[in-house]
Amino acid sequence: MTHGIKDKVIVITGASSGLGEATARALSAQGAHIVLGARRQDRIQSLAAELAGSGGKAIAMTTDVADREQVRKLVDAAVQAYGRIDVMINNAGVMPQAPLERLRIDEWDRMIDVNLKGVLYGIAAALPYMKQQKAGHFINVSSVAGHKVGPGFAVYAATKHAVRALSEGLRQEVKPYNIRTTVISPGVVATELPGSTTEPDTAERVRKAYEIAIPADSFARAVVFAISQPDDMDVNEILFRPTRQEY
Ligand SMILES: NC(=O)c1ccc[n+]([C@@H]2O[C@H](COP(=O)([O-])OP(=O)(O)OC[C@H]3O[C@@H](n4cnc5c(N)ncnc54)[C@H](OP(=O)(O)O)[C@@H]3O)[C@@H](O)[C@H]2O)c1
Repeated sequence: MTHGIKDKVIVITGASSGLGEATARALSAQGAHIVLGARRQDRIQSLAAELAGSGGKAIAMTTDVADREQVRKLVDAAVQAYGRIDVMINNAGVMPQAPLERLRIDEWDRMIDVNLKGVLYGIAAALPYMKQQKAGHFINVSSVAGHKVGPGFAVYAATKHAVRALSEGLRQEVKPYNIRTTVISPGVVATELPGSTTEPDTAERVRKAYEIAIPADSFARAVVFAISQPDDMDVNEILFRPTRQEY
């Protein structure tokens, strides 16, 4: 199962908490070199120190994925440190839910900037290296909300549908370069994500929905599965939920 992970250079955005943090631990435990990006510098620095303390290789770089230069510098740092980039995990995301009629336009902009443009900037930063290497793997994080829409999270769902659309386009275009493309769409997983919803009634609905959330390691196992397949197998879509989740 660990085939194909040892010594891979893996960049993870949104690595300071939740799914990204759990994935960094899981991949480092299997011998990958991890490059951590997020805005909370203290969190990623202490995670990098923890991974190094357990015998792994990890560096941390403060990164706001809404800033394309910062994402480029994150990927450049990976290549400078380790000589290549094997996997780019575009994971950073926010989910401030609210009905459209409340016109939380700044939050709409934020979701588009982080959840969609952040993924595009990750592709822009890593693709030139992967093209040159004639090898690489993009893992883009969508959601069950990338498959289904419901009241209160139209904009979040729109960004996550868009992640799936652009990942499928990417998959088709990068065939000549031997690059793999995986979209992972989690259901409710216990992380800090619900904390980005600020409207009190919506926040209460989200809190209730997350009562059945499963641990972040569920996502990490899906990432391990996708990366550890032999190079000629491209796992394109993984959709998973807690067994108890209806939606
Ligand atoms: N948990 C779930 O139920 C679930 C379900 C489906 C999909 N997802 C998706 O999974 C991904 C990870 O979320 P999570 O559940 O792990 O939530 P989380 O614990 O809130 O983690 C989100 C991560 O994104 C980072 N982030 C937010 N804005 C950023 C920015 N502008 N630049 C760089 N990093 C930024 C955060 O780091 P900083 O604040 O330090 O920057 C944090 O590390 C998201 O794309 C989310 O939409 C989650």
